[in-house]
Amino acid sequence: MQKKYLMFHLCWVILFAIAANGCTFNNEEEYFGITECDTIDITYTDLTYIFTNVCATCHNVSYPAPNGILMVTYNDVVTSVNTGLVLPAIKQTGSIKMPQGQDKLSDCDISKIEAWINAGMPEN
Ligand code: HEC
Repeated sequence: MQKKYLMFHLCWVILFAIAANGCTFNNEEEYFGITECDTIDITYTDLTYIFTNVCATCHNVSYPAPNGILMVTYNDVVTSVNTGLVLPAIKQTGSIKMPQGQDKLSDCDISKIEAWINAGMPEN
């Protein structure tokens, strides 16, 4: 085979290798090893998958409301956050670690809650 044809074929092999490799990643974040955490415009509604689904299973009136912390409604959560106890509990910086008996919330979930508090706890 002539040298110029060999080079031509080599180029295809290299291009194919790059393309095939690119397809094993589902998105840019995965490709660059970055996991995106969107903390923009977070509302209470965006966070009910934590507050309602996780926290309120214990922090409700029938449990009955450990340490007086209620997490069932929007007003409950605002009142609880205003005690100043919620962030230390979920960041697990003190002796009381929430959610009790479960894995710590992800860094992204904690960042979202913190961003929401800093934004003045918008409801929706
Ligand atoms: C499995 C039940 C359970 C779940 C789920 C749970 N908690 Fe608790 N929580 C408790 C109990 C029990 C206490 C009292 C712990 C103690 O006094 O040692 C408590 C205490 C607290 C306190 C008071 C801390 C303090 O310093 O007095 C806060 C704030 C709190 N929880 C927030 C949360 C948040 C936010 C979530 C959701 C991310 C959550 N909890 C999930 C059971 C739970």
